Amino acid sequence: MITLYTNIKELIQVRDKTVSFVSGKQMKKLPTIKNAFLLVKNGFISDFGSMENCPKIDAEVTDVTGKMILPSWCDSHTHIVFAGNREIEFVDRIKGLSYEEIATRGGGILNSAKKLQQTSEDDLYIQSKTRLEEIILQGTGAVEIKSGYGLTEDSELKMLRVIKRLKENYDIPIKATFLGAHAVPSEYKENKEAYLQLLIKKVLPKVAQQNLADYIDIFCETGYFSVADTELILEAGKKYGLIPKIHVNQFTAIGGVQAGIKYNALSLDHLEEMREEDITALKNTTTMPVALPSCSYFLSIPYTPARKMIDAGLPLALATDYNPGSTPSGNMNFVVATACIKMKMTPEEAINAATINGAYAMGLENEVGSITKGKLANFIITKPINSYGFIPYSFGTLQIEKIFLKGKEVL
Ligand code: NIG
Ligand code: FE
Repeated sequence: MITLYTNIKELIQVRDKTVSFVSGKQMKKLPTIKNAFLLVKNGFISDFGSMENCPKIDAEVTDVTGKMILPSWCDSHTHIVFAGNREIEFVDRIKGLSYEEIATRGGGILNSAKKLQQTSEDDLYIQSKTRLEEIILQGTGAVEIKSGYGLTEDSELKMLRVIKRLKENYDIPIKATFLGAHAVPSEYKENKEAYLQLLIKKVLPKVAQQNLADYIDIFCETGYFSVADTELILEAGKKYGLIPKIHVNQFTAIGGVQAGIKYNALSLDHLEEMREEDITALKNTTTMPVALPSCSYFLSIPYTPARKMIDAGLPLALATDYNPGSTPSGNMNFVVATACIKMKMTPEEAINAATINGAYAMGLENEVGSITKGKLANFIITKPINSYGFIPYSFGTLQIEKIFLKGKEVL
């Protein structure tokens, strides 16, 4: 199957194969071709360039005059496998309770865990696939999904099996992360050590044996898991070849960034609270910092200091953090807009962060994240727009007309 897209007003994020992510000043550059063509063969990008060089071949031709094409969004941090919602806590927060206060009362992650434990695997799959379809329709073309609302051996494995089933049934690339250390279950309130040992000795070996996860995560935060706990879990994960992607510096900076770097984390996520030494520690590493602006928006907490980090030469990726507690939204268009509006990232920086850098944060930089020969044909055709800056500018309005995964139209 060969499809040729012609007269593309602007083909966005065109890269050769050697670029795995962009950092610092490079983030300001978004390579594009105006008046372009794109050739898709059997689900892969086979060629692209300026219309002057458009090949004359036997293909199905789609004229996209006036519209732009960009690679699908890469959402490297989500928790879309969850049961039910937490609107009641949302109202509690409106009335003045903080996220931490709600968690201390047994709400928060433990509330979601209780619901998930009582939900059958099939029901959990149905609830999760609805969310996956929702984000696909918003332009996400690669996604990472975490466990962490199970908090028992059975329920953590149940979550990971649901992720596996989603992987098998959908065309979108999915990476799975084991986040057993998301919160300490109430039964272990006075004995966190025992819970960590359960994860390490009982759950982790099964996760590895059944090949249920690509990455390992922990919520390294005051009141949740310490830096020592983080090192313990990362060390255990390492024995099974699980690379870290960790929740760190969301509310307090306690040294988790340094621990993540020590264990060669692929990404360090949240980073709303960044000390100078945390920024310095990230320099010249292969660890991708990931900002989650819709979480900051929803919880009214500080935004990740993107300007400071990029100006210091760091790369940055953007993701949604779609989950029932801190971010009940998986809309990458909103994330890109919020990064521009609230974090002062330019549209070029935000689009780089939400595509090529997001792909790297999932180890998918050779498959997705840019218009590159040999990568998957996962892309978005916009509505007729004047410039790509219109995408974040017109926040709240979807500028997407059509969506393709592996070259197949899904919208
Ligand atoms: O990434 N911070 C930790 N975990 C999730 C939120 C969990 C929840 O409230 O359900 C996050 O924000
Ligand atoms: Fe998260």
